[in-house]
Amino acid sequence: MKYDFDQPVNRLNTASLKWDGAYVFLGEQAKGALPMWVADMDFRSPQEVIDELKKRVEHGIFGYPMCTQSYYDAVIGWMKRRFNWTIKQENIHYAPGIIPALNYLVQVFTEEGDCIAIQSPVYYPFTNSIVNNNRRVVLNCLKFEDGRYTMDYEDLEQKLSTNKVKLLILCSPHNPVGRVWSKEELTKLGEICFKHGVLVVSDEIHADLTLKGVRNTAFASISEEFAQNAIVCTAASKTFNLAGLQTANIIIPNKELGLKYNNYMKKLHLLKPNIFGQMATEVAYNYGAEWLEQLKDYLQGNLEYLTSYIDSNINKIKVIKPEGTYLVWLDCRELNMKGEELKAFMLQNAKVALDDGYLFGPGGEYFTRMNIGCNRKTLKEALMRIEWAVNHYRR
Ligand SMILES: Cc1ncc(COP(=O)(O)O)c(C=O)c1O
Repeated sequence: MKYDFDQPVNRLNTASLKWDGAYVFLGEQAKGALPMWVADMDFRSPQEVIDELKKRVEHGIFGYPMCTQSYYDAVIGWMKRRFNWTIKQENIHYAPGIIPALNYLVQVFTEEGDCIAIQSPVYYPFTNSIVNNNRRVVLNCLKFEDGRYTMDYEDLEQKLSTNKVKLLILCSPHNPVGRVWSKEELTKLGEICFKHGVLVVSDEIHADLTLKGVRNTAFASISEEFAQNAIVCTAASKTFNLAGLQTANIIIPNKELGLKYNNYMKKLHLLKPNIFGQMATEVAYNYGAEWLEQLKDYLQGNLEYLTSYIDSNINKIKVIKPEGTYLVWLDCRELNMKGEELKAFMLQNAKVALDDGYLFGPGGEYFTRMNIGCNRKTLKEALMRIEWAVNHYRR
């Protein structure tokens, strides 16, 4: 089946955080702004998923669900086919989302006052999961040279050895900088963490969304040693646009760690999946591969369009070319605006709602993040608005 990602779908008045929430959460100044922020896409999910959910709705009974054998088989099959990663059913644990899971993991595997490392600039709920649980953030900032981000291993080694860090939350692929870490990069990081007894929580929610010629490596697939020292957070939610169905799979190959997580989830009575989330994930993993390939081609086209538009028309903004995700990190240093000022400029003058770089922590102040998981027409409109504002306004 050929999917038409150009087809506009009206998301207004659908309780969409991205489309209906800008005004609510970003305030008056977001009125009329084109939503290129919250990380979901403006595309309908694969038809197979929609058909299966319709059938379930027609059944009309929405009683307590349980995880089925066919669900586990679908998750195991996907990980094997996509990443050559072998996982066992008993190592798959439910969570109602990856951010809730990060919070549980922080609570289970660290104590108040403990240090947790993150690689800034990084998806800001990572910081919240540490600070809101009264733990301490240790920043291992990414290096930024010649328009490319890499990990700073020397700094990591130094920080891990001096701060008694318990946990490192890895973003792989990385939101917002778009890096898909190579096996060599992950190996180096994993070895340092292993040496210092630091547990790695690897958030791989964007793993399926790699761009042309790039393949993601599942952190725990690198070696048994890594697998035993890792908790991998996965979901079909970004890949197939299912975030509202609140379903994630936390893969914990180490039996003892898995037991600890499970006990905690039992205490919270968070054991039952969402029936729609479970069904959608199963069908997407079993039948969604073709849709995903077409989606990735479309996103590649969006990225090429954006890059060429900005290079030709908005020379004060530089595109940090992503290798994965549908999120593009834009270097706005030449606009000479940062933080709240850059935010206000994009919202009020350009009338585009973006994710402000400063939210992602140190290194993000002069940047902004654009979500290109939309049809080309919306993308063109957003770029035209930004170009117009850059050329007409001087704050
Ligand atoms: C790296 C990363 N992790 C987690 C999430 C959100 O996960 P969930 O909706 O499952 O809580 C996002 C959403 O943008 C993300 O980019």
